[in-house]
Amino acid sequence: MTSPLETGFKPAPWPRRLRSQEWYAGQSRDTIYHRGWLKNQGYPHDLFDGRPIIGILNTWSDLTPCNGHLRELAEKVKAGVWEAGGFPVEVPVFSASENTFRPTAMMFRNLAAMAVEEAIRGQPVDGVVLMVGCDKTTPSLMMGAASCDLPAIVVSGGPMLNGWFRGERIGSGTHLWKFSEAVKAGEMTQDEFLEAEQAMSRSSGTCNTMGTASTMASMAEALGMALSGNAAIPAVDSRRRTMSQETGRRIVQMVKDDLKPSDIMTKQAFENAIRTNGAIGGSTNAVVHLLAIAGRVGVDVTLDDWDRCGRDVATIVNLMPSGKYLMEEFFYAGGLPAVLRRLGEAGLLHKDALTVSGGAIWDEVKTALNHNDDVILPVEKALTQQGGIAVLRGNLAPAGAVLKPSAASPHLLQHRGRAVVFEDIDDYKAKINDDALDIDETCVMVLKNCGPKGYPGMAEVGNMGLPPKVLKKGITDMVRISDARMSGTAYGTVVLHTSPEAAAGGPLAVVQTGDMIELDVPGRRLHLDISDEELARRLAAWTPPEDPSAALAVTPGAGGGYAWLHQAHVQGADTGADLDFLKGCRGAPVGKDAH
Ligand code: FES
Repeated sequence: MTSPLETGFKPAPWPRRLRSQEWYAGQSRDTIYHRGWLKNQGYPHDLFDGRPIIGILNTWSDLTPCNGHLRELAEKVKAGVWEAGGFPVEVPVFSASENTFRPTAMMFRNLAAMAVEEAIRGQPVDGVVLMVGCDKTTPSLMMGAASCDLPAIVVSGGPMLNGWFRGERIGSGTHLWKFSEAVKAGEMTQDEFLEAEQAMSRSSGTCNTMGTASTMASMAEALGMALSGNAAIPAVDSRRRTMSQETGRRIVQMVKDDLKPSDIMTKQAFENAIRTNGAIGGSTNAVVHLLAIAGRVGVDVTLDDWDRCGRDVATIVNLMPSGKYLMEEFFYAGGLPAVLRRLGEAGLLHKDALTVSGGAIWDEVKTALNHNDDVILPVEKALTQQGGIAVLRGNLAPAGAVLKPSAASPHLLQHRGRAVVFEDIDDYKAKINDDALDIDETCVMVLKNCGPKGYPGMAEVGNMGLPPKVLKKGITDMVRISDARMSGTAYGTVVLHTSPEAAAGGPLAVVQTGDMIELDVPGRRLHLDISDEELARRLAAWTPPEDPSAALAVTPGAGGGYAWLHQAHVQGADTGADLDFLKGCRGAPVGKDAH
């Protein structure tokens, strides 16, 4: 039996006065105002005795179906908080559903993060439980909590059970794209597609693939911000409720110890998460989200860290969209702890990184078992030996672009082809089904104006569908380049997040149909094959849209509102696409009383 690793964390002395006491301690008029009103919920007076008040920040919403069960889980968190001697208060927060919000949930990630930050700062809580699930809910709550830096812990809602259709697993999203292409190629009827719809979402929970939701749940766990094992437990498994209750117990002790996000989310923790993303074949969306979270907590994480740390990590988790299985099987195989153990044994984990447990990550995973080596593969059978995220640079992406090798076609990783340009998503939709479009499988599809400013909000349209006339030849992949994102459930040789984006005047804006483009993933290069002089001439002639707000689908031509704020202040994907004025940690001071 080895002794626990030393993390360097020293718990604060307890008891001490907590920030909630600024609202609830004493006998002043203001205290009676705060305390007395809360008593209308039937809380006894002795609950205001200085015990930790825990905000359970809940993204439950009927219109965020992936998080539809979080109200039930919140009751288990509350039970845990009560058991540990805390005082739980459930607080609804902005919930951006991936499958509902238009123009794209990503545009609202930063709004949600801003709302969460102020919900924490402006209210009498000493620590928070972040109840998350659907893609953007995890980063938005983690960003808001990081900017306040009160003790915080993540509870993920967990994935849905496997989808099954005609004896085969159906992966959320992954099969939506596959079936939709099969219908276009004439290999599946529309009636069969509708029949498959009934089989896709069999239970509560998030997408059952290693899509963005499961990736971000894994990132939270690898960063040390969730209890060990949190990421993979299915939403409807009783152990999800057990973990929720245990999380409620744990946050009370974290408040007493003053164990904060800035103690946990260090550079080492981010490196652990980046390597984990490579091992699980995680979503490219993790890149923008982790860069944004790091920016909030003040840790210097860059695209180069993604390439450096992920480059030599084998993708060993055999899950869709890169592999075969789904999250349910990942949980049965051992889940993320078994993967973290493998990383640790390979020397790819900072073992002494602190977690919400108060101890080192290695002490939580060093005995984790892998129960199915077809789900969590031996390294020699990895889906790819170079998982992670490839960061490409060149005259087409001076600030970087990303590609997920495990989801790409090996024969396209080095490719030179003729550009077929779509000026924006509407242009793409108008042309792609036209058999007169001059395109074949050797071409490179280029989509502009879908970045953080351009769409606006950086929609998941980078994996644009192939032209039907190419699909009908049995071709399933082509090189595609854009400043957009891609769903974590999607696949293909897709270059994403090209920065600077077209709408900000990046070189992508001046690519023309007929230009030759070279993609060299092993060489990390993305090159537009025109002379420097020609590129400079085109860039000098480029003009931004006359009225940027006219591009806003939510308020066409009108401008204003949050969409305007987003477009005016959003930063590039290469730094996390946060709003410039939200970066950094502002703490959670107790403001002046208004009465
Ligand atoms: Fe919500 Fe996938 S759409 S988790």
